[in-house]
Formats: sequence, C-alpha cells, structure tokens
Amino acid sequence: MIILKSPEELKKIRKSCQIVATVLNELKSYIKEGLTTKQIDLFVENLIIKMGGVSAFKGYRGYPASTCISVNEQVVHGIPSDKVFIKEGDVVSVDVGVLCEKFYGDAAYTYPVGKITEEAQRLLRVTEEALYKGIAEAVEGKRVGDISHAIQMHVESNGFSVVRAFVGHGIGRSLHEEPPIPNFGLKGVGPILKKGMTLAIEPMVNAGTHEVKILSDGWTAVTKDGSLSAHFEHTIVVTEGEPEILTKL
Ligand code: MF3
Ligand code: CO
Repeated sequence: MIILKSPEELKKIRKSCQIVATVLNELKSYIKEGLTTKQIDLFVENLIIKMGGVSAFKGYRGYPASTCISVNEQVVHGIPSDKVFIKEGDVVSVDVGVLCEKFYGDAAYTYPVGKITEEAQRLLRVTEEALYKGIAEAVEGKRVGDISHAIQMHVESNGFSVVRAFVGHGIGRSLHEEPPIPNFGLKGVGPILKKGMTLAIEPMVNAGTHEVKILSDGWTAVTKDGSLSAHFEHTIVVTEGEPEILTKL
C-alpha cells in the first residue's frame, strides 16, 4: 500500500528533510583530504542531534553507523571507518537519513575531493542530472516507470550504467515504504503517482558494469569491475505540478 501524506504529515517530513539538507550542505566545506570517514560520520551525527533529529540508519537492521559513506568504487552502504582516509581525487558519497517527530527524510550527495579526473567529473554530473530528470517525472498521474525510464535513459545515453541491485523507495513513518523506485524500467508501467506521495529517488551510477558485490562486512556494495560509482538522492513530494524537493535547502 502506498501511503499518501496529509499537509500536517508533510510539515513533519519537511522538517526531517531540512535537517538532512543542512547536513549535506555543511559537508561541502567539511569534507577534506586527510579526514577519516569515521570523522565525517561523527560530524554528521552531532549535527543531526544538534538540530533535534536522530540518524535513521544507526541500528537499522543492525547497521553500525549514522551515515553511509561510500568512496570511489564503493556504490552504497559503506561503513564509516577510522582506517579509511579521504584523499585528493576521491569521490565520496554520503547518504544521510534523519528521523524527527516520527517521520523520516533521506538524501545523498557525492562530493569530489580536490582535483578529480574528467571521467569522475562527468560521472558526478550525469548522475545528478539523472536524479533531476527522474524527479521531473514525479507528477500526479504519471507512473513510477516514467521516473525509472528517465533516469536510465540519461545514464545510458552518456555511456554509464545504472545499478539494479538497489532502488529508491517511498518514505514517511518508515524509512522504506512502498513503492520501490528502480532506476531502470519502462515508461507507462508501475504504480500511478498521486499527490501526497513522498518518494526517495536515488540513482546509483557506475562508470563500468552495473554489477555490484557485497564486501565481507555484509554491507559495503562495490562495483564488480572496480569502476567508480556515484549516488545522488532527494526526498520529494508528488504534487499536481512540479514536485517539491523536500531535501533541498
Ligand atoms: N539510505 C539508504 C536507503 O535509501 C538506507 C541505508 S541502509 C542503512 O535505502 F542500513 F544504512 F540504514
Ligand atoms: Co534512500
């Protein structure tokens, strides 16, 4: 069942989402060469708490940290570590989820560290563009497949591949609600979008093969061929017109 949110519920989701947006914005200047991913995680955890929320991820199915930080060939669900140091040229995806007043917000951004290769720049640009192309389809009366298709087309026409093993999702009183939102698929198929649906749209894009494997920590997803990967995510609400991006400042 897809849950539609009332204006009162949307106010609360907006609040969680604005905490997420603030965190991701602060990270633009905080993430620097020499930091460990654990330091970034603690910075985020403190910021979330200062703003009155809690991490949505810590303890979720036993997940051990407040954020997911996935560096270079890591796709998603990288576990912050005091042994992983950020270095010049890295691309660092940070996924942040917040629970506040019983509602969740979820977003991710991939940060370039110093000077990155031209291919990496293009990967980040195309992935973020794909996210916005998907969001543009999230209009009342369209279907989930319209979002999926728009994302896949943009990614593949630029020579990259979309990850299939993980998908976007509805969000609200739970971090993951129906419907699943694949980043690949066909126009005109899937559930019809209605006003008040809150969705986390999150393309994960690889420079090489779309295939991923999970490391022995049970969480970290990496590209099978070791190629770079990027991840951008927003929580949005479907309206009759342009979708409202809740995780935008
Ligand atoms: N942000 C991820 C998602 O959108 C969830 C991370 S899984 C967790 O589904 F275990 F780290 F919480
Ligand atoms: Co998500």
